[in-house]
Amino acid sequence: MANYKIAVIDGDGIGPEIVAQAIKVLKKVQTLSGNTFEFNHVLMGGCAIDKCGEPLPQETIDVCLNSDAVLLGAVGGPKWDTLPGHLRPEKGLLGIRSALGLFANIRPAVLYKPLIDACPLRRDIAEKGIDMVVVRELTGGMYFGERGISEDGKTAYDTEKYSEYEVERIAKIGFEMARNRRKNVISIDKANVLESSRLWRRVVERVAKDYPEITFSNMLVDNAAMQLVKNPAQFDVIITSNIFGDILSDESSMVTGSIGMLPSSSLGSKKLGLFEPIHGSAPDIAGKDIANPIATILSMSMMLRSSIDMPEYAKKIEDAVNTILEQGYRTGDIMSEGKTLVGCEKMGDLISEAIK
Ligand code: IPM
Ligand code: MN
Repeated sequence: MANYKIAVIDGDGIGPEIVAQAIKVLKKVQTLSGNTFEFNHVLMGGCAIDKCGEPLPQETIDVCLNSDAVLLGAVGGPKWDTLPGHLRPEKGLLGIRSALGLFANIRPAVLYKPLIDACPLRRDIAEKGIDMVVVRELTGGMYFGERGISEDGKTAYDTEKYSEYEVERIAKIGFEMARNRRKNVISIDKANVLESSRLWRRVVERVAKDYPEITFSNMLVDNAAMQLVKNPAQFDVIITSNIFGDILSDESSMVTGSIGMLPSSSLGSKKLGLFEPIHGSAPDIAGKDIANPIATILSMSMMLRSSIDMPEYAKKIEDAVNTILEQGYRTGDIMSEGKTLVGCEKMGDLISEAIK
């Protein structure tokens, strides 16, 4: 029997509510498997600013580094929106990604069959199916490049910068992932304008040569934004930069109709990963027990595959989510006529009970 240490960052807004449901699910897995989970709650984001005066206390980094995996709810909210850039809750999130070396952000976007009515696209487009994964570079590019503002505050800049090494390691993750999927990779850049994108393209094309069994193509980011709504079924694995991945993963999640459903993992070169829903802290619905916990619960499934060797339980969690959706239970964000509306806690109960 193994014991796994999980650092838990509840965060702000709906963070604590959805994290509680994910922990509930892991406790059920604990009961069934005999392996144990040790949860260590640490502060990051707005709550850390309030309690410690900074978005990412050193103690949080240390606890995460000493864990097998990190479970994160969401950070941020209007209360902290007027703080200077280096003190914002988001700075905590960027800091922890960088401190843990999590350069690969994996964001699957899947249209669940029982939720086809929630898809905002035309029925004939939705029926072709959506099952793609955005592999987003997470510790480079404009998010971490040199930035500045002139003394008079009238001019500001941010820098997009990538090295061959950074592009190569994220490209490899994408191609490896495609091996176990539909064997198609599309790399997205802006190589007709940006020098950094031309380097990106050159490196990804080189990596592609090592994967002759994978169908590979490049796509410009503006075209990709259009193709994602025109024909999302064409995408299997998308590899892209930090900023383009941020934008396109929101778009790809919403074409499935349910940002409240989609999990993510952030991985580095070690087993330690960070697992969080794609959506934000939704301060407007915080504390009302109406948030959808499924994205966070499915993030636990990703955790049990990537950082903790319990893939059979990852599958059991996914099956339980499917069962509950098929039985017609819905939170408000995915509610449609004739279904049973439940709150955040109840959804967590139903899913954990359905794990067999
Ligand atoms: C995300 C978020 C973050 C990002 C913000 C909160 C810093 O939008 O995880 O996609 O831009 O990476
Ligand atoms: Mn984002």
